Amino acid sequence: MKELSVRPEIYKYPSAKEFAEEFQLQKGDLILTNEYIYHPHFGALRLKCDVLCQENYGAGEPTDEMVEAILKDIEGEPKRIIAIGGGTVLDIAKLLALKQISPVLDLYDGKLPIEKDKTLILVPTTCGTGSEVTNISILALKSRGTKKGLAVDEMYADAAVLIPELLSGLPFRVFAASSIDALVHAVESSLSPKATTTTKMFGYRAIEMILKGYLEIAERGIEARQALLDDFLTASNYAGIAFGNAGCAAVHALSYPLGAIYHVPHGESNYAMFTGVMKNYMEQKPEGELLNLNRFIADIIGCGVDVVYDETEKLLNVLLPKKPLHAYGMKQEEIERFADSVLINQQRLLVNNFTPFDRDRIVKIYRELF
Ligand SMILES: NC(=O)c1ccc[n+]([C@@H]2O[C@H](COP(=O)([O-])OP(=O)(O)OC[C@H]3O[C@@H](n4cnc5c(N)ncnc54)[C@H](O)[C@@H]3O)[C@@H](O)[C@H]2O)c1
Ligand SMILES: [Fe+2]
Repeated sequence: MKELSVRPEIYKYPSAKEFAEEFQLQKGDLILTNEYIYHPHFGALRLKCDVLCQENYGAGEPTDEMVEAILKDIEGEPKRIIAIGGGTVLDIAKLLALKQISPVLDLYDGKLPIEKDKTLILVPTTCGTGSEVTNISILALKSRGTKKGLAVDEMYADAAVLIPELLSGLPFRVFAASSIDALVHAVESSLSPKATTTTKMFGYRAIEMILKGYLEIAERGIEARQALLDDFLTASNYAGIAFGNAGCAAVHALSYPLGAIYHVPHGESNYAMFTGVMKNYMEQKPEGELLNLNRFIADIIGCGVDVVYDETEKLLNVLLPKKPLHAYGMKQEEIERFADSVLINQQRLLVNNFTPFDRDRIVKIYRELF
């Protein structure tokens, strides 16, 4: 059994300037970013690269339509794709490194040959997706009303670059949602049947760094995060290494229809499902790694292991209040439809569950969280 694979080289720099110099960013490179991230950190460097700003192609998380529109605006044949942004920007850039991308729906249906013909450099500016070290790109497929992940090794970055300073302007709400996403990556991958001693080392360390950071924020207020950006970005990267090897599972699977239809940010839709899924694992199989994990989290938070999910929620609620599903606009009659959509579209994730979920179980969880 494979213990661990980390494909991109991982770099860390204290500033954008040092990164730009060492990587010799220049003409012929294409940067995909957001203006409000690029300008304050890279603007003064006056780089000669072509720059495309993702927000000009639509708001929110990436869609197949956004990718098609960006493709039309790429001039010439860039040699390197450099993505500087959140998971949205990174996931789009992974596709841009491929030779044949359009029609994007065909690409996601496995109908196009997959070949990488550009160097890919990913610079995350949120602390959640870990996308800089994974081979997955997740798009909302507009015509199908769900999100789908395409996972192929050709989408691994050549370099993943961590620059904590880039997160200084990250709005607190995005910080909260994206770090919860990383926490869920770490938890789901550690409970996965594909977890190994080494993936769990990354996963458990990420959980510890994130929860300890939350405890500090709960005690000292939201500005305390500024001193913790390196920790959170590193934890997100560790969680990415863990789930890139061992996979995510039901929390992500159940959150996708909610995210795609009601435009709930990825980390927030994960949080809506997180403790509900964990409680159902406990109902089905209160043993093994799940008990280790509960004990580990309870020790960090300083609570009894019997109340660990409730206390985790209390801590996470300081950052982002958990809402029932109906508060996002979901309707009662969608519960069964969502369950069917998960069963049809998210088997990639469900196979990594700590315990198998059948249709009744998924319906039950949605009802409990509704
Ligand atoms: N490929 C993977 O392995 C993987 C894993 C998990 C999630 N995802 C995907 O990633 C996406 C979510 O990514 P995300 O949580 O990073 O959010 P995001 O990229 O959607 O960013 C959220 C918002 O914050 C802004 N932003 C990002 N960085 C900023 C900064 N430093 N300063 C100011 N504003 C900033 C963005 O412009 C955007 O408006 C989803 O589409 C999700 O499906 C991918
Ligand atoms: Fe995620």
